[in-house]
Amino acid sequence: MLRAEKSDDSLPFIRPRMSRLPSPSPVYRILFVCLGNICRSPAAEIICRDILQRCGVQAQVDSCGTASYHVGSRPDVRMLSALRRAGYEYAGHRARTLCSKDGELFDFIIPQDAENERDVLRIISPSAAARVLPMSRWFPAGCKYREVPDPYYGGDKDFDEVVALLTESMTALVRELFAVDYSPRSVCRMDGGVSRSSSR
Ligand code: 4NP
Repeated sequence: MLRAEKSDDSLPFIRPRMSRLPSPSPVYRILFVCLGNICRSPAAEIICRDILQRCGVQAQVDSCGTASYHVGSRPDVRMLSALRRAGYEYAGHRARTLCSKDGELFDFIIPQDAENERDVLRIISPSAAARVLPMSRWFPAGCKYREVPDPYYGGDKDFDEVVALLTESMTALVRELFAVDYSPRSVCRMDGGVSRSSSR
């Protein structure tokens, strides 16, 4: 399995603002954050992990919420159905809330919307703020959204749209953070080597 080279030098957008990555882990740790940790962030976690596994990249991927309403719950069944329709498998996740320690444990903290971002910055220490990168950073050009829309009060179409948006954005995220080029038909490393074909 390919290990993304963990190096402060490989992160020019972080380097000017901080001297080092925090986690002692030899692989990158990435944390997706939303409000309840039952819809958007577990979907982002599942999609990111799926893509990294297909690319053969080792990383620790997790998610959490800023609110505690759903602590201990599985992801929303509507989100699990949307993920299944898109070909993703749920491998077990229980909702938890973000704590200040997460800012020290994770290399990248990815809020799904602007309110999540404000809450994250309130909870973690200021020294970790440079590693908070909004999911919208990787939205495709011309995207009609400014943040990942909350599907909780919506229908199946809204959940499908979030899964599609996260899938498209995640390919750009893994390219920037992990230097892997993922496409539906083939999985290529940036150095040109093809890791393996994807069935999707
Ligand atoms: P999430 O969605 O933040 O994407 O998990 C929500 C989940 C629960 C609630 C709102 C949004 N809620 O109000 O309980």
